[in-house]
Amino acid sequence: MPDASNRNLDAHWMPFTAMRDFKKRPRFVSRAQGHYYYDEDGRQLYDSFAGLWSSGLGHGHPKIVEAVQRQVAEMDYAIGFQVSHTKAIELAEKLVDFAPDEFSTAFFTNSGSESADTSLKIALAYHRANGEPQRTRFVGRARGYHGTNFGGMSVGGITPNRKTFSAALIPGVDHLPHTWVHEKNAFSKGQPQWGGHLADELEDICALHDGGNIAAVIVEPVAGSTGILPPPVGYLERLREICDRHGILLIFDEVITAFGRLGEPFAADRFNVMPDLINTAKGLTNGVIPMGAVLVQKKIYEALMSGPEQMIELFHGYTYSGHPVAAAAGIAAIDATIEEGICQQVRELEPIFEEAIHSLADHPKVTDVRNIGLMGGVDIAPREGAPGMRGSEVHKICFWDEDLVMRNSADNLQFSPFLNARPDDIAMTFEKVRRALDKIE
Ligand SMILES: Cc1ncc(COP(=O)(O)O)c(C=O)c1O
Repeated sequence: MPDASNRNLDAHWMPFTAMRDFKKRPRFVSRAQGHYYYDEDGRQLYDSFAGLWSSGLGHGHPKIVEAVQRQVAEMDYAIGFQVSHTKAIELAEKLVDFAPDEFSTAFFTNSGSESADTSLKIALAYHRANGEPQRTRFVGRARGYHGTNFGGMSVGGITPNRKTFSAALIPGVDHLPHTWVHEKNAFSKGQPQWGGHLADELEDICALHDGGNIAAVIVEPVAGSTGILPPPVGYLERLREICDRHGILLIFDEVITAFGRLGEPFAADRFNVMPDLINTAKGLTNGVIPMGAVLVQKKIYEALMSGPEQMIELFHGYTYSGHPVAAAAGIAAIDATIEEGICQQVRELEPIFEEAIHSLADHPKVTDVRNIGLMGGVDIAPREGAPGMRGSEVHKICFWDEDLVMRNSADNLQFSPFLNARPDDIAMTFEKVRRALDKIE
């Protein structure tokens, strides 16, 4: 690639990146195809994270590329307020068909963060329309991630987000404890047996505030960004029961888990627990064009279809809600997911991935390994006095020495293989990571 020292690296403030460290030896890719990235010298790097959990079908999927090219030429943009367009309605129909039967309606956003805030607002609007305007409180979970906007951050449970930005805009939030207790469920495969009872803490929160004041509980069915925490057996079922008992809506943030990553269209299908709202983004368009969607159950949509008919029922939306080019990508991505039997492929790959990721369990630096579907996390022991350093070193060694793009979040190494990955590539990924682990102090 052109010499990075010729670039003005201060011009681009990168998301979630240690800028000063990055600038010491910048890592750039310039092309992506199939399961690989390429840098400007043509070096091929295997993508072990499928974009950013986003591109499960592979980069440059021909069907999606073609749909986007056709759409941008046919209609690049269309106003979405008061006038609709055929691609948005087509995608909404497809999405609702792909979703569990209970879901009747999709509201389009542009990202997972916007889906989080949209779902919280729909929950408030629903209760108000239902004659319960006092339901204004929310319940999230420690180690939950619902994006970076103020609503999602407030219900989220990531310390640096909450510390720096104070999450002050939604003060009425409580947090359930997270479900990962090392002594109880380290090195679990799939759903851990221990921890279902932790959902009962929701009863305590209801007792404290009165469940009748709580609008919604929001959780990732499998916590992703904070280290891949599969739900303990029975946990999601208990959350559902308690929400039902108190008239509280349950929101699943499926920004990572939707569109096949768990071997079913949605995590709701895999765990057989039906939330009231499902948040999506990422895989909706295979990461090709930014887009998200909140799926709502019919009862919610219908409750809001009230009041004077000339008035807007949900005072919410974005200039790019249902953007035609994004919608074209979404239609092609869902079609490809179905036609290529992606969920079946994931079900077949899951045990292969499980075995491969747990092959790291005996490495002296590894303290935990967790997996479900095609999501996996490996914790490594932090270096004394320098938390996150070892994770960052593994990432860099993989990039420079192993031709592997992998993701670390501090000392948690995260893996999100392509939904149509080759078994040999899954095995190769963990051989490369092992060699990187061997190299670090
Ligand atoms: C569960 C979950 N919700 C929300 C988000 C935020 O999505 P975005 O970065 O598209 O705003 C993410 C991103 O990783 C996520 O994993």
